[in-house]
Amino acid sequence: MAAHELNEIARSIVADDKGILAADESTGTIGKRFDSIGVESTEEQRRAYRNLLFTTEGFEDFIGGVILFDETIRQASDDGTPFGELLAAKGVVPGIKVDTGAKALAGAPGETITEGLDGLRERLAEYHTLGARFAKWRATYSVGDGRPSDYCVSVNAHALARYAALCQEAGIVPIVEPEVLMDTGHSLEDSAAATARVLVRLYEELAAQQVDLTGTLLKPNMVIPGKGASDQASPQRIAEATVSCFRELVPASVPGIVFLSGGQSELEATENLDAVNRVDDRPWPLSFSYGRALQASALAAWAGSPDNVEAAQQAFLHRARMNALAAGGGWSSDVEEAVPA
Ligand code: 13P
Repeated sequence: MAAHELNEIARSIVADDKGILAADESTGTIGKRFDSIGVESTEEQRRAYRNLLFTTEGFEDFIGGVILFDETIRQASDDGTPFGELLAAKGVVPGIKVDTGAKALAGAPGETITEGLDGLRERLAEYHTLGARFAKWRATYSVGDGRPSDYCVSVNAHALARYAALCQEAGIVPIVEPEVLMDTGHSLEDSAAATARVLVRLYEELAAQQVDLTGTLLKPNMVIPGKGASDQASPQRIAEATVSCFRELVPASVPGIVFLSGGQSELEATENLDAVNRVDDRPWPLSFSYGRALQASALAAWAGSPDNVEAAQQAFLHRARMNALAAGGGWSSDVEEAVPA
């Protein structure tokens, strides 16, 4: 596929302040989400829940791409339309999670390496026939006690670049997702330092493996203190630290940066996204690729009952709209309250 076609796909996903719905929870992760609302995780319940999200009327005004899990891309809506087709018909680009998870990194206690390269070329070819036009691979890095180690940063960058090169060969836009985790007690400065080291190594590897940056999207953490930090930064500090780190290290040829929510509440994720979009001098669109921060209210409203589908869709649509406003730097607590979930 010509380079400009990958670039067009990437740009279309984040056009007009749109972002991405990360609905690619593995069977294990969606099981945890369903546990939290007391719903048994059967294949049919998982399908019914994804059906609810993808048939929400008007969500395509705010969401340009949806990341699916292997099981989901093979499932269909209530009327039998395969989910990939349903999304494409709405102008939403279907994507696919292709890593097989973060596993313990040998010789590096507390650190992980993301797996999934074996057979990836063949899997990508099949996902392309199922309609996927972008993919996701997530590497995770914990902070503290000497972590992330150079070793962890280096092997994950190498794997991300190998994945990205294979995606481009298959005509699929790779989302490269290096996630500095926020589950420890590190400071904003520690987050900035770890994020910078991860990005430097990542872009070195992407260059070394001849990945065309114009046909990629970056999905990073925001530069944000860990959950346990005593000094929780304001949205303005988070925004300034985030944009200054990325401005220095992410080439302007990258067509978009789509943040993960990473454990922020729905409101924090929206407020911080809005704040980063109010900082001057941003060479790329800064948008969202949220999982929990787009779904928490919808999941709670649904609670596994067909009677609650409409309320859950309203909650999802509301969060999608709020985040698209934030991607344009036009969100406020007034608009948040003016449109009840
Ligand atoms: P969260 O927004 O819940 O962090 O999920 C995004 C994602 O896709 C993580 O890989």
